[in-house]
Parts: sequence; structure tokens; C-alpha cells
Amino acid sequence: MENDNRHIFVKGGKRLQGEVTIEGSKNSALVCMAASALADKDTTVTLNNVPDISDVYVMIDLLRALGKTVTYENEVFKITGELKYTELPRELCGSIRGSTYFLGVMMAGLNHAYLGLPGGDRIGARPIDIHLDNLEMMGMKYKMDGGVVEGTAPNGLSGRDLFLSFPSVGATCNIIMAASRAKGKTTISNCAKEPEIVDLANLLSQMGVKIIGAGSDKITIYGSAPIKTDVEHDVISDRIETGVFITAVAITGGDAVIKNCTPYHNYPLISMLSKAGVFIEANDNEIHVVSTGDVNALKITTMPFPGVATDLQPLLTVLALKADGISTITDLVFPERFSYIYELAKMGAKLEHSGNTVRITGVKRIDGTKVVGSDIRAATALVCAGLMADGVTEVEGMHHIERGYKDFVGKLKSLGAEIMIK
Ligand code: UD1
Repeated sequence: MENDNRHIFVKGGKRLQGEVTIEGSKNSALVCMAASALADKDTTVTLNNVPDISDVYVMIDLLRALGKTVTYENEVFKITGELKYTELPRELCGSIRGSTYFLGVMMAGLNHAYLGLPGGDRIGARPIDIHLDNLEMMGMKYKMDGGVVEGTAPNGLSGRDLFLSFPSVGATCNIIMAASRAKGKTTISNCAKEPEIVDLANLLSQMGVKIIGAGSDKITIYGSAPIKTDVEHDVISDRIETGVFITAVAITGGDAVIKNCTPYHNYPLISMLSKAGVFIEANDNEIHVVSTGDVNALKITTMPFPGVATDLQPLLTVLALKADGISTITDLVFPERFSYIYELAKMGAKLEHSGNTVRITGVKRIDGTKVVGSDIRAATALVCAGLMADGVTEVEGMHHIERGYKDFVGKLKSLGAEIMIK
């Protein structure tokens, strides 16, 4: 899709108004889909609320390559059959980050894994050393060669007490899945606490795995054989898509209700934006955002959950362009996720980037021009920059947006944006 010639054209100046409905979480859906492959071959796992985005279709292809039978219709994913094959096509693995999860899945289910190194967004180095080191502690031997990793554990994996050098979401998920079929008990200290971890644990618990502590920084998993029970699970709503719409409404001085979301998953963002002068009211599953379009200067540091999500960092930089004075945004999770600032500079943004921090001078107005979004979150942020720019902004990177957001352009249009794909 690198030569995708569909571009997004957005004419700035419209306030976003109305209602928008949030999809199931991309990141949660991907890991739940992977974990569902560990169910007994004669049972069916049904996942509801699986978003209709391109990463989901790649995941389905990967599951079929493992021998599983999968259907996906109206955002309902069903999987059954035997986990048979230990090899995944390298090119397919290379197209999404979620493919890493099959290392844990195949090691758990087959004691052998051969897969291409994962792809996904180009947001700096994305090593998998934490995954590999900890699976090695559990008894996996591995080698990496020419973009492929092969893991083996002829006698199966064994539970261990593990400590992660960083609370990596991907590594935590991979180890949980591996541990769910390992011999004995595994504890993971300094593990990720993201809602996606809790969602994965809830699914695996339904699949018969005993898991304690999901959502805290220490999780315990008791390995066990698959149970013979069908399972149905609702994937949580997408906190990143929610954060995108909260911020986009703030950027445009809009007034909108964001429905079908979990406000608790966005509290750090809500609290920070409220302090910056945006009115935000949240109840059980919706958020009302009202903004004048003016915000106070921001000082934000993205962190592992419950901190502000790194995925929202590019968009918060766009919001900071509307602030009075100088804002700073520091990314402690992906310190190199700043490629988009050169595109924003083309639009007249005043930004200084140093190390893991960007310093943004509030300029109030920027100009539409042609920009390139090089990953999901950057492309989304550039579209939102277009919403506040004078004139028309042309954004290249539609295929990135489609990896993670269902009908992003359509949703913005329904909120009143002047936007089209051409
Ligand atoms: C997941 C999400 C991504 C989100 C990120 C952080 C998916 C498909 N993607 O990515 O949207 O931005 O969590 O919330 O769910 N690291 C290492 N070695 C490792 C693993 C990670 O050094 O073995 C580093 C990474 O380079 C990064 C940091 O740890 O700097 C966080 O990465 P991680 O939490 O693993 O993110 P992902 O699971 O890749």
C-alpha cells in the first residue's frame, strides 16, 4: 500500500459538532484475536466489537495461516479449529506490529515458532528484546536471522518469576499468552497496566486460565490445558480513537458527544485538557466536549498507562499550536515518535525538537499545504491539523489511517468537517 494514491483533502475552519461513536479497540482486538487461537480445537471463541480496520484482516490471514478457521462479519469474529502450523509468512508478519503476538501463541500451543519480525508504524526502533529475553527465561531457545525469528522449546515452557526492564505492552501480552499454557506459575513484575492487558486477561480467564493482578504492575498466570467451553467476549472500546475525537473537538473549538467509550481509560487526557480550559463532562460511556478553541499552554509527558498515551502525542502537538505561549510535550514511551513535526512545520508550525521533547510555540493559525503522514497516529494528527488550518490541507497516508480507524474521514464529515478522499 506504500503507493496508495488516495489522499485526504481537508478545508480548515469548521467546528466539529454533533455525535460520534467509538469502535472496538484496535490494540485490544488484535491481541484478543491472537489469544483466541489458544482455545481448544473443538470450541469456538466469539469476539464482538472487533473494528473493521485493515490490521484486523491481516490478523485473520495470520490466524488462517496457522490452520485456524475464522469468520468475520458485522464486527463479530469467530474462530475454531486446530492450531497446526508453526510458520508464518514473513511478509504478512512484517505489515503489522500485532504479528509479534504469534511468538507467544505458537510457543504456548506448539512449542515452536517461526515468524517474520513485526512491522507496524515507523515510530523509531521497536525491538522485541524484552519479549525474547523473558520467553528465553521460560525455556525458549531462539535464533534471529534475516528478519525472521525462530523459537523452540521441545519440552514446553515453564513458569518463572519475571521482571520487565520496561512495562512493554507487547511483551506483557506475549508472556501472558505463553504463560497460559506453560508448566506452573509465572509472575511478571513491572508489567504493562494498559486496559488492553486487562481485556486480554478477561478473555483468557473465560478460556479457563487463572490470572491474577491484570491492570496492576504484577500479574500472575497459572498455566493450564485448554478447556472445552465456547467463549464469547466483547472487546473494549478504543481509548485512542476516543482521545483523538476529544482532542479534535478541542482543536476546532467544537461541541460534540463521543459515544460508546470508556471515559476512565482517558482520565489523564481529560484531566489535562480540562486544566487547559476545555470543558469535558464524562459519564459511564460517553464524553461531552465543548471548546472555545483557545487552550492554555500544555506541559505533557506521555507515559505507560495510566499516563497520557503516546499514541496521542502527535495530536496533542497540533492542539498545542492553538495554545497561548509555549507548550512542551515529552514522549517517554516512543521517544522518537516525532517524524510528523517536519510536516507540521511545512504548515507554518513553530516547533523545536530535541531528544524526546518537542517545544511548540502557539501560533493560532497555520496554513494548509501538502503533507505526508508516515504512520497511523501521525497521519491522523495531520488531518486534524488540516481542520484548524487556513485553506486546504492534502494529507498522504490514507492506508495508515485505515490500519487503525474505521471510517475516520466519514466520522469527521458527519461532525461537520469539510473533508474528502480523492
Ligand atoms: C503497543 C501498541 C501501540 C502503543 C504502545 C504503547 C499495539 C499493536 N500497539 O505497541 O499502539 O503506542 O503499545 O502503549 O498494541 N520496547 C523495547 N523492547 C521490547 C519491547 C518494547 O525496547 O522488547 C520499547 C519500545 O521500543 C518502546 C517501548 O518499549 O519504546 C514501549 O513499547 P511497547 O509497550 O512494547 O509497545 P508495543 O506493544 O509495540
